[in-house]
Amino acid sequence: MTAAPLVIDVEGINKHFGDKHVVKDLSLQVRQGEIFGFLGPNGSGKTTSIRMLCGLLTPDSGRGSCLGLDVLTESAAIKRQVGYMTQKFSLWDDLTIGENLDFVARMFGVAQRREVVARTLDELGLGGRRDQLAGTLSGGWKQRLALAACLQHKPRLLLLDEPTAGVDPKARRDFWEEIHRLSAAGITVLVSTHYMDEAERCHRLAYIAYGALMASGTAHEVVAAQQLSTWSLSGPHLQGLAQTLGDLPGVDLVASFGATLHVSGKDAAALEASLKDFARRKGLTATAVAASLEDAFIYLMQNSQDPFAGGK
Ligand SMILES: Nc1ncnc2c1ncn2[C@@H]1O[C@H](COP(=O)(O)OP(=O)(O)O)[C@@H](O)[C@H]1O
Ligand SMILES: [Mg+2]
Repeated sequence: MTAAPLVIDVEGINKHFGDKHVVKDLSLQVRQGEIFGFLGPNGSGKTTSIRMLCGLLTPDSGRGSCLGLDVLTESAAIKRQVGYMTQKFSLWDDLTIGENLDFVARMFGVAQRREVVARTLDELGLGGRRDQLAGTLSGGWKQRLALAACLQHKPRLLLLDEPTAGVDPKARRDFWEEIHRLSAAGITVLVSTHYMDEAERCHRLAYIAYGALMASGTAHEVVAAQQLSTWSLSGPHLQGLAQTLGDLPGVDLVASFGATLHVSGKDAAALEASLKDFARRKGLTATAVAASLEDAFIYLMQNSQDPFAGGK
């Protein structure tokens, strides 16, 4: 994959809204065919970054290209060549399935529109339901239809902004199968998500907090870069202990994982000493485990500060 050309290549791009600096010096390289994940708390600038990449917003400063086109000066051409699924919105509920596809195809000036729409309907297995209102479809089917709609003009880059929010687990799995098929066919995908299982399905990811890129790389690299030692604690009455654990020397992070607690820290020796002593006193079992991507993300979130919150 290292030989594939860069489809997104931006350096030091910034965006302000009024006096809010919402994207700070973002640099990002994504290669053709990669599935690149965008993670981070709400309000971190994921949507704003995506909108700058697809030509809907112009960066205040920085430079770079998307599909070989300049993000500062060629936004109109970029807009026509990317497939963009916006956050929350997927389809017009009060148009039929066929009308939705036709409308999007028309917006992108798709040649032989009727044939393309008919083929899309066929490929989705929705040929018989062309005249059904899109609003009557399940959440999963709406997302499939929305994805198919934004593929009709054959974009080489897909920007998907939280495409599976509120979609059931089976439909999410199907959606990701489709994304991997597209990626195998050479289409590049940048996708924002809050779901950990989806983050793990990306080839590479970036974690953004309050406009700043905090970590990027493969899931393995992002976890390794935090240099966390992690222990899993199990035993009775764990939930009441999180606060006390958090105050022990060497403990930087306590997070619930099902019936266990994950306790992590940078100082491996201090953490181990604290935990072994604590486990003995409380009759708990402490086992060293590998830090997970979720541990790494919680750690990154905890260590980033909201500059707009004030006070802190
Ligand atoms: N058009 C806009 N005008 C003013 N502020 C905006 C606008 N769009 C986004 N913001 C602000 O920019 C910040 C980043 O938002 P956004 O990019 O939507 O984050 P995310 O997608 O990570 O939740 C937020 O504080 C948001 O309120
Ligand atoms: Mg968003």
